[in-house]
Amino acid sequence: MSHDAAPNTPARRAPTDLHPVPARVREGSASSIQTLDDWRRVWMAAKTDPDAFWLRETQARLRWRTTPTQGLHGSFHDIADSQVAWFADGTLNITESCLDQHLETRGDKVAILWEGDEPGQTRTFTYRELHAEVCRAASALRALGVQKGERVIVYMGMVPEAAVAMLACARIGAVHSVVFGGFSAEALRDRVRDCGAEVVITQDEGLRGGRSIPLKATCDAALEGEHGVRHVLVYRRTGGAVAWQHTRDVWWHDALAGASADLPAVETAAEDPLFVLYTSGSTGRPKGLVHTCAGYLTWASYTHEVVFDLREDDVYACMADVGWITGHSYIVYGPLANGATSLMFESTPLYPDAGRYWDTVARHGVTIFYTAPTAIRALAAQGDHHVTRYDLSSLRVLGTVGEPINPEAWQWYYDVVGQGRCNIVDTWWQTETGGICITPIAPATPTKGGSATLPNPAIVPVLLDDDAHEIVGPGEGRLCLAQPWPGMARTVWGDHERYVSTYFSTFPGTYFTGDGCRRDSDGYHWITGRVDDVINVAGHRMGTAEFEAVLVSVDAIAEAGVVGFPHPIKGQGVYAYVVLQPGQQPDDEALLTLANATCRAQIGAHARIDLLQLVPGLPKTRSGKVMRRILRKVAEGEPDKLGDVSTLADPSVVAAIVAGAKV
Ligand code: WTA
Repeated sequence: MSHDAAPNTPARRAPTDLHPVPARVREGSASSIQTLDDWRRVWMAAKTDPDAFWLRETQARLRWRTTPTQGLHGSFHDIADSQVAWFADGTLNITESCLDQHLETRGDKVAILWEGDEPGQTRTFTYRELHAEVCRAASALRALGVQKGERVIVYMGMVPEAAVAMLACARIGAVHSVVFGGFSAEALRDRVRDCGAEVVITQDEGLRGGRSIPLKATCDAALEGEHGVRHVLVYRRTGGAVAWQHTRDVWWHDALAGASADLPAVETAAEDPLFVLYTSGSTGRPKGLVHTCAGYLTWASYTHEVVFDLREDDVYACMADVGWITGHSYIVYGPLANGATSLMFESTPLYPDAGRYWDTVARHGVTIFYTAPTAIRALAAQGDHHVTRYDLSSLRVLGTVGEPINPEAWQWYYDVVGQGRCNIVDTWWQTETGGICITPIAPATPTKGGSATLPNPAIVPVLLDDDAHEIVGPGEGRLCLAQPWPGMARTVWGDHERYVSTYFSTFPGTYFTGDGCRRDSDGYHWITGRVDDVINVAGHRMGTAEFEAVLVSVDAIAEAGVVGFPHPIKGQGVYAYVVLQPGQQPDDEALLTLANATCRAQIGAHARIDLLQLVPGLPKTRSGKVMRRILRKVAEGEPDKLGDVSTLADPSVVAAIVAGAKV
């Protein structure tokens, strides 16, 4: 035995060991789930009688016009013929749940607390003010002729008016589709067309990290020749110069001036669409997932309250962008349905320095803080002093979302940010699921770094092997969800068949998530990442097929195969294998620059290829199918684990691929 080791020192706890819930997280909780026993009981109740469980929850949470008597309708077995529905005989307007129902009890409570790009630049909207502003914006939309059921695109940065725009659509029963402000003109145009929007809401410029983003100009480029769009409503954020089409463009402040601040809400059916949100899949173009009014809001409200153990005086901060589902469910809809104070953040974690998040937490007394693993890794790499110089004693619950968090980053978050006093909720979910599915529950669940732990009530995860056999007990397989839950997306906009084939055909009768998952002997779930051709770069979900389509649109490129590879900060990076057209001779660096300019134009600045390798051919089977497994293994730096390559049409390309590998 070494003399250095003190004989009775307990072994240091590894990040993946069980971490009990810190006392401070449990103290003062009034949640329905405060212990693992509570969780077992509630989860079982939701499983055995979902109708009773969710009818009770929805009535307690939402303000209904016609109270529903029906719970779940439909099942995964007949999903090709009929959509799943929840609370189908009820009617409501979800803004009455998010705004009107709080006016008496919380009218002067801050609903949205906005932290602008410059530190300390803030704006607040109380529930009363937000209600009035949403009514004004809804009146303005109505004056522009927007009808119930019509789609409105929201292409904005992180300003409170983005939330106002979403809620204003909902107030008049219109369907919003928020397009992340980083998307290019082409991507925006595709979405405008796909959902048939006639009105777009944007702003002059966005502001992030001291740089302006030309949102209106990009919108103008997207709409060139698109005669279907009648109006563009423009919020003035920076005052930067913009081009103006007088018959089409309308300033937000002009349209809202004098508009009614008390507009009665339009009654909608529970299952009417609330929004369409586009997301990437394994194949083809991004699809517009449709979320409906009541089931979605019930789920967002329930999960937001229970997972984070929301309390009346919490200051809750989710650092996501409203352009993604996390921003929809956990900046806007869940928190507002729950009457919370929701912080909206316009800037970046690194502006003006790596202390920005913690400066924001300290100044506003944030109690619940929710961000992505990629931000945690980037900040951990900058050193602890950016964190420790701020007073973070207000924090109680920390959350992560968007990708697997590696145990080391988790431990840093736990020790340095949470100072061992906070519980971390590692929340697994998807655009399709509408809200959090597998997660610790803050006061109840002991955590293990890197594990999303246990399913929320209504979520019945099953792990299936390649032959669709269920893995019982510990093991690893494809993650499927066996029963419908209120917040699930009901369909793909305009293409129910695609919805059915994407999610319900791999393992008929269950929803296939596209993720792999391991379950340990405590029943804890460890998401291992996508098992399909989706890559997750810094929490941005992209399809390899989308990159490939961009690459082959470059003149010099004949064929392309794109895969993800492990990246220390971004989680995954993008690796492109490219076959040139005959007679072309650019070097790979020049081609990478060109390819990235094309990705930026066709998708957006967040779509960047990290590594590009020129190859003589792609590894294909004799029937012409690209064997992506080989491309993946090489990109992962494991060329010795290629497996059987004997079925390839031309095995010699493999040697060339391995020899020229960039990792
Ligand atoms: C991944 C984001 C591991 C997963 C809400 C999923 C995660 C995809 C986690 C959905 C997590 C999300 N641990 N992986 N806690 N959260 N993912 O649609 O691969 O942008 O399928 O929704 O992100 O990404 P999306």
